[in-house]
Amino acid sequence: MKKWLLMSLMAVLVLALAACGGDKKETASAPAAEGDGGYTKDKPLVIKFSHVTSIDSVKGKAADAFAKLVEEKTDGKVKVEVYPSSQLYGDNDELDALVSGNVHMIAPSVTKMVKIDPRWQYVDMPYLFENEEHVRKFFDSDVAKTILESDQLAANDIKGLVFWENGFKHFSNNKHPLVNVEDFKGLKFRAQAGKVLEAQFKALKAGSATISFGETYAALQQGTVDGQENTFNNFDTQKYQEVQKYFSVSEHGRLDYAIFVNKPFWDKIPSDLLKAIEDSLDEATTLAWDLAAEENAKSYENIKNSGIEVIELTAAQKEAIKAELEPVYEEFGKAITEDLINGIRDLK
Ligand code: LMR
Repeated sequence: MKKWLLMSLMAVLVLALAACGGDKKETASAPAAEGDGGYTKDKPLVIKFSHVTSIDSVKGKAADAFAKLVEEKTDGKVKVEVYPSSQLYGDNDELDALVSGNVHMIAPSVTKMVKIDPRWQYVDMPYLFENEEHVRKFFDSDVAKTILESDQLAANDIKGLVFWENGFKHFSNNKHPLVNVEDFKGLKFRAQAGKVLEAQFKALKAGSATISFGETYAALQQGTVDGQENTFNNFDTQKYQEVQKYFSVSEHGRLDYAIFVNKPFWDKIPSDLLKAIEDSLDEATTLAWDLAAEENAKSYENIKNSGIEVIELTAAQKEAIKAELEPVYEEFGKAITEDLINGIRDLK
């Protein structure tokens, strides 16, 4: 009798656990509905879009424009809820939130995808991209598709959709002007993520600490780190000029984004709505690329007018930094893959 009771209790427990597990993650089992799937303005399909920059940044403006376009094109049947400034999730957890379906869309700086695939650190390889035109050629290329449509993403229920641009990164710090390679020695910099950036600073005989975007201002202010690297626009919209004294225009690496969605969620979006969302994303992507150039140019002016010392490195000074960073290619060329590095170089 007791044994039966125990077995029944265990069966109930197993069923309850299975039911909980089923709720955790959306599954792709149900096919996408035709038409608008019965969604209305009053009962819209909600897409949660989380990102870490401010609303006035390149990414913030493009994300808001995307939300507006979707609302217009679907007559309000789809609502994109944008959560900027790490409001919902910061760097450390937005990817996990995407995988678990707690948010449906993110636009991280691609190096932060290193947790899933080391090749995303292509973006940090020193002086790999020549100019914006080269970057855009890459975004449109089959080479880019090999990482945006990779098995590694699919295995994590993630679908990569498009690339959004931000810009070239530059160094700043609050100790002294960074002009020659020796100037980096002994300083400590904030890094976004991954081993490539760590190696970059090591090659310059500097230290680094991985700090989330949301915590970087405080880290600079409190002196946890002496400096950082970022685009004109991220530097300016985060107001780093308040906590940094010297800015060197070095263009030593890129900071760009890709839009990633939770695949099971995406695959279930009714066909008409999906078409409108994809059209909106195409428009927002064109806008994001234009905004990147405009907003970075404006921010550069703001930085120059802010009173901090701006050093425009000469071609020879950049060449010297590039030569010092060569070991990064030796150490990480294999992990990033020759196909990707040479593929990008061939697009010049
Ligand atoms: C950073 O952490 O510096 C950037 O990834 C922030 C961003 O999303 O542009």
